[in-house]
Amino acid sequence: MKYLTLIIMALTIMAGLVISCSPKKQDTVADREDNKVLVCYFSATGTTEKAAERIAEITGGALHNIEPAELYTDANLDWRDTLSRSYVEMHNRTFRPALKDSVTDMSQYSVIFIGYPNWWNTHPTIINTFIEANNLQGKTIVPFMTSGGSSIINSENKLHEDYPSIKWAKGLLMNNISDDDIKDWLKENGL
Ligand SMILES: Cc1cc2nc3c(=O)[nH]c(=O)nc-3n(C[C@H](O)[C@H](O)[C@H](O)COP(=O)(O)O)c2cc1C
Repeated sequence: MKYLTLIIMALTIMAGLVISCSPKKQDTVADREDNKVLVCYFSATGTTEKAAERIAEITGGALHNIEPAELYTDANLDWRDTLSRSYVEMHNRTFRPALKDSVTDMSQYSVIFIGYPNWWNTHPTIINTFIEANNLQGKTIVPFMTSGGSSIINSENKLHEDYPSIKWAKGLLMNNISDDDIKDWLKENGL
């Protein structure tokens, strides 16, 4: 009887050790407290969309496609053609291309990522339309970008200058980066 009690005690201790040592699923940003994450993106040719999907996967956030009312065709995106839609829109910084959904319900989210391609060394003006159409006050806004090589700095500077009341987190250029780079960036932003 004594031996049986000892065996049961030993098994209980071993089971406890196995449970406490087994790896726990890493908390995502969205799991923690009231950090509800929405990953918004505008992508004309799919690259930024893939970047957004990676962020959503790592953060546990929801995805939202910032869709223009009228999609950009290949001809619209010809940056060498001074008459192309993108050229004309981007050379008038007050122009605001219309969105498919004029407003996005973001009430339940406290962290909003906004991703976009680099166009003429900055963000496409549809990002201005999106920011101006939605109430982003009190939320943490995190920009990210994909590009052919240009940096995100100029875009971030313009966003800070144009929308100073928004709580901007540090942005990330997502060209050729690893999941660890994404995680380091989130950590740097306290996310
Ligand atoms: C109209 C237009 C202008 C662009 N201007 C730049 C630029 O100034 N610098 C740069 O590095 N890449 C530039 N690019 C390349 C895009 O930023 C890059 O291909 C981006 O990853 C595309 O993202 P998307 O597939 O999500 O639209 C430009 C692309 C287009 C279509």
